[in-house]
Amino acid sequence: MIFDNFSYIKTEPLSGDIRTDVKNILLINGKSKTYIHVANVADRNALISKTYDLDHDKCVIAGLLHDISAIIKPEDMLKYAYENRLDVCEAERKYPFLLHQRLSKICAVEYFNISDEEILLAIECHTTLKKCPTKYEMSLFIADKLAWDREGIPPFYEEVNAALDISLEAACYKYMEYMVDNDMILCPHDNWIEAYEQLKNMR
Ligand SMILES: [Fe+2]
Ligand SMILES: [Fe+2]
Repeated sequence: MIFDNFSYIKTEPLSGDIRTDVKNILLINGKSKTYIHVANVADRNALISKTYDLDHDKCVIAGLLHDISAIIKPEDMLKYAYENRLDVCEAERKYPFLLHQRLSKICAVEYFNISDEEILLAIECHTTLKKCPTKYEMSLFIADKLAWDREGIPPFYEEVNAALDISLEAACYKYMEYMVDNDMILCPHDNWIEAYEQLKNMR
């Protein structure tokens, strides 16, 4: 199990209630801010699920688990990736925290026993998106950005939220366009580039 690789990670027996279990593991590992963020993302993803006819519970679980690997130190993420022979792209090598989306998926499988592919794939690309994204992948991507983990309201909030009335694709594109236009991409991930180009061509 992934957490066994890190002696500093504390775990407790699972209760079976995912919200309780996510809260417990984040709090005992000193990540109370992450818990507030993931609870907000779960709520936002649940709202989006109504508009786009997605499964409510899947959207809540994806929201709760998407950043669960935050209890792993970023410097250990790259080490774990190399030791487990994951393909690491240039962006992930330069900014190992980008790996947290892939490691959160592994935590969801190995610790929370999640096997639903729609949930797992959404968690795996929630930071970068990817080419031909599913509705679950786009909804989590957008929920994560609208309920972001920083203070205040995101500067792109109104534009992206308005685009959400048009389509999930329009909302994803709006957010990505904002990031590109404002030079806020440190090093574009391969998946990001492919998703952005495709969404741009679809307009
Ligand atoms: Fe994240
Ligand atoms: Fe997040």
